[in-house]
Order: sequence, then C-alpha cells, then structure tokens
Amino acid sequence: PLEVIAALTVFFLVVLSLLCVIFAPYGPVWKQQRKFSLSTLRHFGVGRNSLEPKIIEELKFIKEEMLKHGKDSFNPFPIIRNAVSNVICSMAFGRRFNYEDDEFKTMLKNMARALELSVNSYMILVNICPWLYYLPFGPFRELRKTELDITAFLKKIIAQHRDTLDAANPRDFIDMYFIHAEEEKNNKESSFNEDYLFFIIGDLFIAGTDTTSNTLLWCLLYMSLYPEVQ
Ligand code: HEM
Repeated sequence: PLEVIAALTVFFLVVLSLLCVIFAPYGPVWKQQRKFSLSTLRHFGVGRNSLEPKIIEELKFIKEEMLKHGKDSFNPFPIIRNAVSNVICSMAFGRRFNYEDDEFKTMLKNMARALELSVNSYMILVNICPWLYYLPFGPFRELRKTELDITAFLKKIIAQHRDTLDAANPRDFIDMYFIHAEEEKNNKESSFNEDYLFFIIGDLFIAGTDTTSNTLLWCLLYMSLYPEVQ
C-alpha cells in the first residue's frame, strides 16, 4: 500500500505541475520581454543568413583546435560547446572568448555541471519541495555554488556594458536592451530593467549552448559512423 500511495502522490504532483505550466500566468511582462528579445535577436541575425559569417568565423577556430590533435583521438565536447557558446556570446555580449580563456572554460563547465545536477534524481525533488534547494549539502549546495558563479560572470559582463555604453553605437543585445530600457523609462507599464536583462541573457546562454552543442555532437557522431552519408 505504501508503494501505491507513493505512486499516486507522484502522479498527482506530475499532473499538478503540468497544469501549472499550461495555465502559467504569462502576463504583460513576459510578452514585453519576449517581443523585444525576438526582434532584437532577429536584428542580430537569428533566423537569417546574416548570422552565417559569425558561424563560419567560429568554424575556423574549431578546425584549428581540432587539427592540433593530429591523428590522436580527442573529446570534441569542450570545443563544440565553446564554439556554440561563442556564437551566442557574439550576439549577446558582442565578443567571442578564446578556447584557452580559463574563466570562460570554467563558466561552460559550470553550466554543464548545473544541468547534470538538475536532472540528478535528488535535485528533481526541488520541483516538489522548493526549500530542498537551500539544503547545505550534496547536489543542492553544489548547484547553488554553480549558480552563484554563473551569476557573477554574467553580472560582471552586464556591468561592463553599462559602464561603456555608447547609445549611438549599440554593440550587441545587452546594449540594445539598455537603450530600450532608457527609452521606456517614463512608461509606467515598462518592465525593462537590469534584473530582467540578467534573466534573459542567462536564458539565451543556458538554453542555447547545451541544446545546440548536443545536437551538433550527435551529428558528428552519426557522420563519423556513416562516412558515406558524411
Ligand atoms: C538544437 C537546438 C535547440 C533546441 C533543440 C531547443 C529546444 C527548445 C525547446 C523545446 C524550447 C521550449 C519551447 C516551448 O516551450 O514553447 C525552447 C525554448 C527556448 N529556447 Fe531553445 N532550443 C535550441 C536552441 C536554442 C538557442 C540557440 C537559443 C538561444 C540562443 C535558444 C533559446 C531558447 C529560449 C530563450 C527559449 C524560451 C522561448 C520562449 O519563452 O518563448 N534555444 N528551446
């Protein structure tokens, strides 16, 4: 009977969380931020051919890095992850990071680790009992530390942009956001502020890197397994 109760509880919670997602209050803030983000990303080439030169440029670095290994085997994951992230960085931060850049390498490692921890079975319980997140041990503690490190990295980049902003020459997504926030400053309904900017940059970075890297890695694997298709 205990197992039945446990199974029913889990079932109930899963249904409840699905309903929460379906009926989530995607209100005016979400609409404003989404509309701005989509049109700004399009401005920087997302969904258009104008992003292609950035990707081709990054490919040169991938090739260089891979050729360094000669005929030895190597793990392509860090290279691909770094390259994918660089394409996102070029739109979001207006720059790419060298593959040897220790701070960036740590950031990417942290991101992969955070995702790994989030699908760890104990971490999943946070969806049911959010307070577990604050436990001072195990994956909970590690995830909090990882999140703090990623936050510090992104906030530093946002602050550097704020300090060097030239409204006449926007360099990237962050600059465009600051300019838009300034334009909307007298609009009481405006939700544009640095807190949301941080969340959007974090979303782009985290949502874009892992998904695209893994898609490309699967492509690489299949192409090496089926050279005739390659
Ligand atoms: C192969 C690559 C990718 C896959 C498989 C993927 C998959 C997904 C999926 C399944 C969703 C949820 C859609 C929904 O719930 O309606 C999503 C949303 C999202 N993805 Fe991706 N994605 C990829 C690449 C990217 C990239 C490169 C970026 C950004 C640079 C990105 C940013 C986002 C964002 C911001 C959302 C939330 C959109 C919203 O709220 O409207 N994704 N993605």
